[in-house]
Amino acid sequence: MNAVKVKDDIYWVGAVDYNVRNFHGYTTNNGATYNAYLIIDEKVTLIDTVKREFADEMWERIKTVIDPNKIDYIITNHVEMDHSGALPVLMERLPNAKIFTTDPAGINGLTAHYGPYDYHGVKTDDVLNIGKRNLKFVSTAMLHWPDNMVTYCPEEEILFSNDAFGQHLATVERFDYEVDKDLMYREAKKYFCNILMPFRKQAYHATKLVEEINPKIIAPSHGLILTEEVSNMLKHYEEWSTTNGSKKAIVVYDSMWHSTEKMALNINEAFYELGYDSKIYDLKVWHPSEVITEVLDAEYIAVGSSCLNNQILPNVAGFLCYLKGLSPKNRKAFGFGSYGWTQAPLNELTTELKKCDFEVITDPLMQNYIPTEEDLKNLKDKVKSLVK
Ligand code: FEO
Repeated sequence: MNAVKVKDDIYWVGAVDYNVRNFHGYTTNNGATYNAYLIIDEKVTLIDTVKREFADEMWERIKTVIDPNKIDYIITNHVEMDHSGALPVLMERLPNAKIFTTDPAGINGLTAHYGPYDYHGVKTDDVLNIGKRNLKFVSTAMLHWPDNMVTYCPEEEILFSNDAFGQHLATVERFDYEVDKDLMYREAKKYFCNILMPFRKQAYHATKLVEEINPKIIAPSHGLILTEEVSNMLKHYEEWSTTNGSKKAIVVYDSMWHSTEKMALNINEAFYELGYDSKIYDLKVWHPSEVITEVLDAEYIAVGSSCLNNQILPNVAGFLCYLKGLSPKNRKAFGFGSYGWTQAPLNELTTELKKCDFEVITDPLMQNYIPTEEDLKNLKDKVKSLVK
């Protein structure tokens, strides 16, 4: 339960949540961390906190470098409770601490969550002197809540970026140079897709802004601290926030008695034979938060369902709901599926794909009951002609 030194008198004092597997609907297969940072200066300053249940873990880590009762300032970069949840515990122990957050969104959000404390509103370019160091605040509103901001310490060239550039990855290591980079970027992309994808414009602006600031270290509130990988992570963010899809297709489905599954397999092959990087996901097996990570850079999305009780299957309806909220937009899409005595539910696929702001290239491709080999060959040919 030690604090981890980032630079002289700057420490990581967060918490590691090895066992969390569901982060408001996002599967965190590798757990998560809630990163808080302590700066020991004339004013002892804590940047962000942790989830409430980890308040004592943070307190104990702080105790390894300084008496936590000496904390003067708490910077709240973001109201969401994975970063602010420990505030009431801290404020019970530190009644004189001042809290700095955005004005008005941060103050309103914190007040709604925790009631009145000694809040001090800050805006972009405001600077707080804490002794030998200064902290400069920059609003990153809607990346991904209205209250979000980042905090930059110019003397140390560290950017405390909160959710931006983070990853849900619980490890004993704290720095990018200590871990497998492929794993780190896979989790960073999954984080981007499941949390930040609806705000790609804001992510792009924030990335450009950070490029201008040119920090040596990015210390996010989730996952690893970036030292060697600052510029690579910025390049990834620029790519993820601007991509309109590469030659890649995603086939997503659920099936009752394998007919829709056979269609999915043949659609997947059709894309492959056209030279696409094609991936297939059975929603009985794959969680939507895994699939959404592949949607970001796909040109085509095909969604299939069988019909059940005059509806599409619940797994598919749930996936489409999740997709609609996070949609990268401007992708090409179509629905497909098998039906028994009414085709009507399959039209719901088109309706929902249009709500994702996708270009729907055809009415749903439908199969009555069980496809024959000839039906499947015709389906493949049809997909090939539509995609060409
Ligand atoms: Fe990590 Fe938006 O909270």
